[in-house]
Amino acid sequence: MTNEEILALDRQYNQHPWLPGETNALPIARGEGIYFYDGSGKRYTDMSCQLSCSNLGFSIEPIKDAIKAQLDRFAYVAPAHAFEAKSVLAQKLVQLAGGSFAKVFFTCGGSDANEAALNMARTVTGRQKILSRYRSYHGSTLGSGNISGDPRRFALENPAANGFLKFYDPYIYRRGGTAEEYLAQLEEQILYEGASEIAAVFVEPVTGANGVIIPPDGYLQGLRALTKKYGILLVCDEVMAGFGRTGKAFSFQHWGIEPDIIVFAKGVTCGYVPLGGVIVCRQIADHYQNRVFQFGLTYSGHALACAAGAATLQYYEDHHIFARVTERGKLLGALLEEQKAKHPCVGDVRYLGLFSAVELVKNRRTKEPLVPYGQPNQTMPRIFALLRERGFSTYGRENNINITPPLIITPQQLREAFAALDEVLSIIDKEVEG
Ligand SMILES: Cc1ncc(COP(=O)(O)O)c(C=O)c1O
Repeated sequence: MTNEEILALDRQYNQHPWLPGETNALPIARGEGIYFYDGSGKRYTDMSCQLSCSNLGFSIEPIKDAIKAQLDRFAYVAPAHAFEAKSVLAQKLVQLAGGSFAKVFFTCGGSDANEAALNMARTVTGRQKILSRYRSYHGSTLGSGNISGDPRRFALENPAANGFLKFYDPYIYRRGGTAEEYLAQLEEQILYEGASEIAAVFVEPVTGANGVIIPPDGYLQGLRALTKKYGILLVCDEVMAGFGRTGKAFSFQHWGIEPDIIVFAKGVTCGYVPLGGVIVCRQIADHYQNRVFQFGLTYSGHALACAAGAATLQYYEDHHIFARVTERGKLLGALLEEQKAKHPCVGDVRYLGLFSAVELVKNRRTKEPLVPYGQPNQTMPRIFALLRERGFSTYGRENNINITPPLIITPQQLREAFAALDEVLSIIDKEVEG
């Protein structure tokens, strides 16, 4: 089919997520390594790994081979059955999590994994209320959408889905404060809400879509202590930050804590086949030992996904990917700091491993965001289009450009991509107050 034919059918028959029906999609022809190519043959460096999921790029042969081999045995069996790839992958995940983690429940992606965590948290504690942060995204199904803090929750907030409470992120660039102050405020909120009513606190340990907000040291340790003090479960949503994105298997491991539930998706298969799930601690696994887990999905533990997942984790291990991310992250950090020093439109740059964001401002001194919070605007889409024209593909929310390059990117590829970013930021510089 020609690009025009593809686009005509796309416009007529596909509703794209988070976009109006009338939309102009980019027709993609193929992917190779860290690049993808549109129908005209133009090359894009995938500086966001699509939606921060295609973390190993498009050409990892052992993952493709594992999927093909599984397809030759069987593509799917019902979740009640056992098979090699599912057993192996669950064991690998529990080992990667370490500590007292004990069991895995598989879903099809991140939203339903958060639904599973929500179900478990409420059932295990017998409590209803859920605390999560304003600048967070946990999914778009009814439960995960209500746990989410960013404006995407508004469409889902429903008077029937009550008990979802929000607290402030340790967003030091905008709100200042110390870890202790944020924790004291949260403890006060917990007491006002009734500690014995709260089932769980859900956090992205390093916030992803909403601008890569990295907590100050002591924050997650304090949050763990606080939740333990009140018998509240701590759920770490590692859907975006997990599997080496920050240089560790899971981002909470930077702060030496252990949550009760880990929510994962994306990097577990790097997008080769959709997969998500939860890894639960011994106490939760034991709770269900003789009780039914009242939750299920036809495609829980899909065979092709488990085969892709087992091969992906093996690839991370064989190629020392997490250690390489830490090393490559130093270059990413240096390049980002250079951009910040050079461009008045850059208010802040935040990075950990290969997880990063550039926060754009109208005025560096007042920190006025380049676009107002939660409002539709043309400025950020134009910036992403300018980047895309230069072969730099990424996305972001609010006034942030998220940069989450493939974990296998080379120093030269990273420098080449940053030349495009530099050009676009120079254009934006002319539109800000400096
Ligand atoms: C932290 C986090 N949690 C959950 C989700 C939802 O995952 P999915 O889109 O696979 O349902 C996302 C998606 O971007 C995410 O970033």
